[in-house]
Amino acid sequence: MKKAVIIGATSGIGEEVAHLLLSQGWHIGIAGRRSDRLEAFRLKHPDKIVTETIDVTHEAATEGLLRLIQKLGGMDLFLLSSGIGRQNKNLDPDIELATVQTNTMGFTRMVTAAYHYFKNQGDGHLAVISSIAGTKGLGTAPAYSATKRFQNTYIEALQQLAYMEKLNIRFTDIRPGFVATDLLSGQHHYPLLMKKEKVAKRLVDALLNHERVVIIDWRYRLIVFFWRLIPAFLWRRLTVRTRK
Ligand SMILES: NC(=O)c1ccc[n+]([C@@H]2O[C@H](COP(=O)([O-])OP(=O)(O)OC[C@H]3O[C@@H](n4cnc5c(N)ncnc54)[C@H](OP(=O)(O)O)[C@@H]3O)[C@@H](O)[C@H]2O)c1
Repeated sequence: MKKAVIIGATSGIGEEVAHLLLSQGWHIGIAGRRSDRLEAFRLKHPDKIVTETIDVTHEAATEGLLRLIQKLGGMDLFLLSSGIGRQNKNLDPDIELATVQTNTMGFTRMVTAAYHYFKNQGDGHLAVISSIAGTKGLGTAPAYSATKRFQNTYIEALQQLAYMEKLNIRFTDIRPGFVATDLLSGQHHYPLLMKKEKVAKRLVDALLNHERVVIIDWRYRLIVFFWRLIPAFLWRRLTVRTRK
């Protein structure tokens, strides 16, 4: 029986992925800050789910992850879905710094712990949900796009490190476009909005096939392809809009 740990499974894409893995016979360890949601989820499948309340921005999160793995009885797949992001055209420093705390500090804390666990075990699959926002600097969400770029680069670097160390660790970096989840809740209108169920299904396929980098969906693959071709002097003038 396969075992997966999902950090950030109390809502959104992570929660959907958890449901899909359960339906495919996996046992899962789930984490997030909202203990009540973790417990409600666990009670639906008490024989297949273990939980741990984890705030990735706290130092204790590393011990929390190790406890969760122990409760689960091992870990074959690690998926980091935890993340925050807000539009911040006023460049409120509190929003920027909170985003950095969760998406880079918290990310690094969890991903390094998972890497060390798999290194000791001899194999494993380390996956993260970053975003297409990491592929370009977005003026409406500077910290969000910068932290997502950090995540893309970090996984690329870890893959090289694992190769240097001759480790059998697989890596997957999932990069969705806009998905209708709590993360986007607010008054903005987002174009090409995807359903979380559809994104989670594609994500699980990518995990099972050990795909390395996955942009969801095909429309966003086209967008990323073309906006990477835009030279810097033009990108600066481009307004990436979401309507209120
Ligand atoms: N929605 C989109 O358009 C979109 C697009 C591309 C990428 N993504 C990425 O997809 C991932 C999942 O986001 P989502 O859209 O599913 O949004 P979501 O519903 O808000 O889910 C975010 C998850 O992260 C957890 N989380 C946030 N801060 C945390 C912390 N400090 N410690 C532990 N867990 C924390 C939340 O749980 P608690 O609140 O219980 O802690 C929740 O389970 C994020 O990394 C996001 O950047 C989203």
